[in-house]
Order: sequence, then structure tokens, then C-alpha cells
Amino acid sequence: MTQTIKVALLGGGTVGSQVVRLLIENVQDLSARAGATLEVVGVAVRDLRRERPGIPTRLLTDDPMALVTRPDVDLVIEVMGGIEPARELILAALDNGASVVSANKALIAEDGAVLHAAAERNSVDLYYEAAVAGAIPLLRPLRESLAGDRVRRVLGIVNGTTNYILTKMDEDGADYAEVLAEAQRLGYAEADPTADVEGHDAAAKAAILAGLAFHSPVSMSDVSCEGISGLTAADITAARDSGFVVKLLAVAELTDAGDGVVVRVHPAMVPRSHPLASVRDAYNAVFVEAESAGQVMFYGRGAGGEPTASAVLGDVVAAARNKLAGRPGHAHSVYADLKVLPLGRATTRYSVSLLVLDRPGALAAVAAAFAEQGVSLQSVRQEGGLESGEQDASLLVRTHAAAESSLQQTVERLRELAEVKQVVAVMRVEGGPDA
Ligand code: NAP
Ligand code: HSE
Repeated sequence: MTQTIKVALLGGGTVGSQVVRLLIENVQDLSARAGATLEVVGVAVRDLRRERPGIPTRLLTDDPMALVTRPDVDLVIEVMGGIEPARELILAALDNGASVVSANKALIAEDGAVLHAAAERNSVDLYYEAAVAGAIPLLRPLRESLAGDRVRRVLGIVNGTTNYILTKMDEDGADYAEVLAEAQRLGYAEADPTADVEGHDAAAKAAILAGLAFHSPVSMSDVSCEGISGLTAADITAARDSGFVVKLLAVAELTDAGDGVVVRVHPAMVPRSHPLASVRDAYNAVFVEAESAGQVMFYGRGAGGEPTASAVLGDVVAAARNKLAGRPGHAHSVYADLKVLPLGRATTRYSVSLLVLDRPGALAAVAAAFAEQGVSLQSVRQEGGLESGEQDASLLVRTHAAAESSLQQTVERLRELAEVKQVVAVMRVEGGPDA
């Protein structure tokens, strides 16, 4: 091998340490695939005193700017996370003529346009396959393999930490806080796990997926986002008892009118028979629905150091090949420039659980609240009430698909009704026959 590609890493934590280990252990294969010797020349970290098995001490530095602006660095791998200093370091690397491979969805979703512009200006690559759904090859298929189709919807589980928590709560009745600590120990969670449980991590991924799928600029602030911290064990048990499982979903879809896209992240009930229901632990799965291809499903490990390192290294080999060829690969396109519309424009189904007075006209009043907003009911189940010696009855109402704005207004109306003592729980339902 006559040529060498010099590689610098920003970050030597959960992901970075695995990237370095694999780059060193598999250097011959990776170099043969890239067409040049891949040589790690430095790893920037915060704390030089920490033990880092697998990373040779001579490679460590606590001066990341000096590392990425070295004149001999061809490729920078950013696995430090966060917005700053990651942004200024990536911009400096790109302006220094290095291609960049990043796993940083928060940064790409916030400022992808500026970073892409810098990559284009410098004729280098900016790749971030690892930023969405860990090991799963997803961004390249969307950018390249599905470039000949028209995507209508992307629906999936894209956060490993929350899927791990929800799986353990559903299957073992485990305690939320304990399972979150376990997910952190296993290296699934972000440095600040609030990003996982409040849905921000999934929202960043949803923005990246939507931008690629719909060839439009979509940023983190365009995504409507609800996490899992408000869910109770009772929500999960209630879903289980009626044949559903609760999942944190990311959904990006064209409106029926085709006038824009809606991008949302929220917990939803999924029928146990749906393939997403069997996506367990830290696994992720994403359905892409395209006009000609139909439904395509991507499934695999969504978090963890080694799976994520696999996606990083795929990008490293691709970027190294492009370096040797003397031109960058295909970047994403935003030519369609679709509008990102508010959550109210989404179409979904609701499951609404109510405590109502068990008296004549109560059911009619509830049904009228749905009818006033044009929301069609799929099923109504009543339990408790006078027959059981109680004044109140529990009503479980499931709707057909309707506009989110109509469903929200219905719930507001239900809260005002004298017959409704309490709106106990409201959850979206996805993955059924009409949604
Ligand atoms: P991590 O374990 O917290 O590692 C971060 C690394 O960056 C650490 O080595 C840290 O140094 C270093 N670092 C942070 N700020 C720095 C600074 N200002 N200067 C120098 N070094 C700095 O995080 P991670 O889990 O590997 O995640 C890294 C990135 O990958 C994030 O963007 C994350 O969203 C993304 N990602 C993670 C996963 C996953 O499953 N973990 C999956 C996909 C994508 P110290 O070690 O000295 O603190
Ligand atoms: N914290 C993220 C997750 C890591 O749990 O999915 C993978 O992006």
C-alpha cells in the first residue's frame, strides 16, 4: 500500500474507544478496502489521566484544535458529542481539507446546513451514518438506493435507551429509574440521558431522516417532540392488557395534501402483531414507505459502542476511497424544499381513557364530542359503573385515523364535559390498518 490516510479522532469514550480498537485490530482489512493504509495519528479527550484500554497512550491529546488543524490529517472522526466545541472543531477540520465522519446527531440536526456548506466549499466529505440508528445502514440507502423513488413516510424506533427501558417495563414490570441506570451502564444513553428520555435524541434523528427522505432542509426545531418520562407503569400495563405495546416512535410523513411534511416523536401504542412491537431492548427499526418500493424495513442494533463503531468505520472507508479518488462523494440534496408543517397537520389515531359519571346521556355526550370534530370512533369499552356498585365508569375509546388537531380539540372538549370526571390517559396509536 503506497498511500496513507491519516485519521484523527475527537473523543475516546464509548464509541471512540471502539473505533480506535477496531481501526488498530483490523487495520489490514480496512486499509485494503479503503485502498490506503489507515493510520490513527491522535485521539482528543478531556481527561488525559483516565485509563483507556485499547487506546495507545502516545495517541492521546487534550488539544483537539491542534489535532484537527494538523496539516497532515486527512480524515477526522468526531465522536465527542455536544454542540460546542464539536461544531467549531468540525468546521476547522473541513476548512483544513479533512473529510469528517461524525456520530453527532444533535449537531447535525441543529446545524447540518452550515456543516454541509463547509464540506462542499472544501470539496471534502461529511458523513454521519452512525448518527441515526447505530449500526443500521440507513442514511446511505436513503440517500442513494432510494434516490429513484418518492418516499411518503418514515416510521421507526430510533432511540435504543428508551426502547430498552420500555421493553424492560413491559416484559418484567421493571422500575423506570433502575432500567435507565442499566441503559447508561451498557453505553446506550447520551452523556445527559435527558436527551434520550425526553425524546430529543430521537427528534434529532427524525430531523436527519426527514431531511434525507424528503430532500428538504429539516432541523431539530421543526420536530414536535414528547418523550417517555411522563409514562406510568399503569399506561404500559393498560396497553399490554389490550394487546398493544408502548414504543417511542419517530414519524416523518408527507401530508395527504402533499403540501409539506410533519415530523414528530412521541410514545405510541403499537399492536402486538405489528413488526415494530417485537423490536426489543436497544434494537432499532425503521420502516420507509416509498411509492414504488412499498414498505422497506431496516432493523439492527441502535446503540452501544461497538455497533456504532461499525457505522463510523463504514463511513471512514467510504471517505478514504473518495480522498484517494480526489473528489467527494454524493452529498444530500435539499432541492424539494418542502415546508415542515405543525403537528396538528399529522394524521393519527387516539386511544382515550376516561372516567365518566354512569348516568343516561354520558356516553352520548362523549360520542358527540368526537363527532363535533369529525372524529370517527373505532371502538368503545365500558367497565365498572352502577352494575359494579360504583357511581363512575371507565370508558376506553379508540378512534379511526383523524387530524391530530381535531383529536386534540376533542380531548379539550372532553375535559369540559360535566359527564367526564377525568381524562385519565390519551395515547396515539400507530401501526394499525388505517394509520
Ligand atoms: P462519551 O462516552 O461521553 O464520549 C465522549 C468522548 O469525547 C470522551 O472521550 C470525552 O473525553 C471526549 N470529549 C468530550 N468533550 C470534549 C472536549 N471538549 N475536548 C476533548 N474531548 C472531549 O460519548 P459516546 O457515547 O461515545 O458518544 C459520542 C457521540 O456518539 C455522541 O455524539 C453520541 O450522540 C453519538 N452516538 C453514541 C452512541 C452510543 O450508543 N453511545 C450511538 C450513536 C451515536 P473524556 O473521556 O476525557 O471525558
Ligand atoms: N443514546 C442513543 C440511543 C445512542 O439510546 O439510541 C444511539 O444514538
